[in-house]
Amino acid sequence: MKRNTLSLQTKAAQALHMLEPESGAVVPAMHSASTFARDENYDLREGFIYSRYGSPTTAQCERIIGELEGGESLLFNSGMSATVAVVEALPMGAHVVAQSMMYHVGLDWLDRQAARGVIGFSSFEAGNLAALEAAIQPGKTKLVWIETPANGDWSITDIAAAAALAHAAGAILMCDSTAAPPCTTQPLALGADISFHSATKYLNGHSDLTAGVLSAAEGLDMWDEIRTVRSFQGTVLPGFEAWLLIRGLRTLFIRYKQASENAMAFARHFESHPAVAQVMYPGLPSHTGHGVAAGQMTGGFGGMMSLLINGDALKVAKACKVFIPATSLGGVESLIEHRHTVAGAGRGIPENLLRLSIGIEAVDDLIADLEQALGAA
Ligand SMILES: Cc1ncc(COP(=O)(O)O)c(C=O)c1O
Repeated sequence: MKRNTLSLQTKAAQALHMLEPESGAVVPAMHSASTFARDENYDLREGFIYSRYGSPTTAQCERIIGELEGGESLLFNSGMSATVAVVEALPMGAHVVAQSMMYHVGLDWLDRQAARGVIGFSSFEAGNLAALEAAIQPGKTKLVWIETPANGDWSITDIAAAAALAHAAGAILMCDSTAAPPCTTQPLALGADISFHSATKYLNGHSDLTAGVLSAAEGLDMWDEIRTVRSFQGTVLPGFEAWLLIRGLRTLFIRYKQASENAMAFARHFESHPAVAQVMYPGLPSHTGHGVAAGQMTGGFGGMMSLLINGDALKVAKACKVFIPATSLGGVESLIEHRHTVAGAGRGIPENLLRLSIGIEAVDDLIADLEQALGAA
């Protein structure tokens, strides 16, 4: 069977069927070397010179993610360092458009760069294409940055429509697809120029590393510049983390499927609960983005949701015994977070909002835990 006809699930589970040539080991070796010897002609052997530019284990992990994303990939030592590299690679003074509600530290970075005069920056209401169109300045806007589903209310942006608006104005579209990994959404196939993930989250799935990854179709103008920024900043993902990430990627499809099933059952249970004012989950028909999500999240709606609580949300978070009160998302364990406390008052997160990252545990245990926490609070 030709390898490229295999499903992405098979490719992920087998880490692209890469066997160590000498030993036949089915798990790749982990390379931690900082430098690489030249051959007898003083040529580089495999293109590696020094680990700040890249190394074999990181390159192997990039090949796997590139295959899943349908492009080529660059790994960074955090999600933030990946997005910082994109903004750094823009021409000086470029105008950037991003959602007013998305991962708050990304917004902090854009605000900061705008305050320093490095970029111009306008924001728009997440999921609102008319607002996006109004925020774009044709000819000046170089980057449109969307996040879908988006942190906070998990609003959904139509990736293909956002790409068309960006391209018509001469800009590129970067899609933060952290909550929708390639087993459910492939932003490049929908027209995005850069697909971005905090690989800390679903791609790795075990809350034991930080990583970021950018993917693009071959030939993106900025790509070499982004790679160059990465090597100046020294933000490439080191070998050990890349090795762990390869291990995490092998179970991506099955983890995401289980988290999606759990989240759907959980959301349905609490949708009509008297202590819950609203369940914000793109998998529910009541979510404003459900129709678009159903079209572009073809492998499940994932484990991320927010609940608006009738009462003191912080008390509920504190009363949980199975949900872990921690930030981050996309791991096998379920987390609960009072987002207003974490993101700060200025980011539009209601005080009665709880952000949940539903993991792969038995969903009845999760439902019972939130039930008891709502009762206790
Ligand atoms: C949607 C989203 N994008 C980007 C990031 C930043 O990634 P990292 O924490 O790996 O730097 C996060 C982190 O929480 C995130 O949730």
